[in-house]
Amino acid sequence: MIEIRSVRKTFGPLEVLKGISLDVNKGELLCLIGASGSGKSTLLQCINGLEPIQGGEIIVDGVSVHDPKTNINTLRRKLGIVFQQYNAFPHLTALENVALAPRVVAKRSRSDARALAQKHLDHVGLGAKAGSLPSKLSGGQQQRLAIARALAMEPTYMLFDEVTSALDPELVGEVLETMRLLKAEGMTMVVVTHDISFARESADRVAFLHQGEVCEIGTAAEVIDRPQQPQTQKFLRRERQASLDMLERTVA
Ligand SMILES: Nc1ncnc2c1ncn2[C@@H]1O[C@H](COP(=O)(O)OP(=O)(O)OP(=O)(O)O)[C@@H](O)[C@H]1O
Ligand SMILES: [Mg+2]
Repeated sequence: MIEIRSVRKTFGPLEVLKGISLDVNKGELLCLIGASGSGKSTLLQCINGLEPIQGGEIIVDGVSVHDPKTNINTLRRKLGIVFQQYNAFPHLTALENVALAPRVVAKRSRSDARALAQKHLDHVGLGAKAGSLPSKLSGGQQQRLAIARALAMEPTYMLFDEVTSALDPELVGEVLETMRLLKAEGMTMVVVTHDISFARESADRVAFLHQGEVCEIGTAAEVIDRPQQPQTQKFLRRERQASLDMLERTVA
C-alpha cells in the first residue's frame, strides 16, 4: 500500500502541501479532486519521488520514498505514471515506444521486450496499431499508448494525472474504459481527475484537496453525493456548472 503521512511540500515561500495524510489500499481506485492549484499533481510527483518533500513521509510497500538510502529507481518501477499529455518518441512505432523502457531500464532482451510491448498494446486495445508511428494515432490512442508504456514496466501502482483533460470529448470514453479495465483487473490506482462522473462511477474512494490539505475523504457516494464540507459543496457545484456549460457548447 501507499501511506502518506503528514506530507509538507513547499516551493520557496509557497506551501503547496500542508500536512497531507492518506492511505491508498491495495486494489483500490482513489480519485483526487480539487480546484486548480490545490496540489494534486504535486502530490503525485511526491509519491513517485520526482519531488522532494519538506516534512512527513511517504511509504510505498514499506519503503520510505524520500529516504536517501532508498533506491529510487527500483521504487519508481512500482509506480507507473501517466500525464495529461504523453510525448511518445515520434520516430519510434507504438511497439518500439512501449518496448523501450523494458529494454533499457529493466534490461529485458530485445525479443522479450517486444513480446511484452505487444501484450500491453493488446491490453489497451492497440494491438493492431503496433507498427504505427505516434503521429498516426488519435489523441485517445496516444493516451492508451502512454498507459501501455507505463504498464510494460509491470508496476504495482498506477498514477494518472488528468489523462483525459486534453482530449476531444469523443475520445475521453475509450481512455476511461481502459482505466476501468485496469481497476477490474485489480490494479491499485490514484487518479487525479476533473471528471466527477468518472469519480462517482469508478472510484472506491474520493479525496477532495483544498489549498494543500485533504478537506474531505470518503467513498465516492459520500464525497460526491453527500459532501459534508462547504468547500467540497462549492467545488462540486462549480464543476457541475462547468460541465453543463461544456455540454451546451458541444451541442450548440
Ligand atoms: N515547480 C514548481 N515551482 C513553483 N511552484 C509550483 C511548481 N509546481 C507547482 N507549483 C505551485 O504549486 C501549487 C500546486 O500546483 P499543482 O500543479 O500541484 O496543482 P493542481 O492541483 O495539480 O492544479 P491543476 O488542477 O491546475 O493541475 C500551485 O500554486 C502551483 O503554482
Ligand atoms: Mg495538476
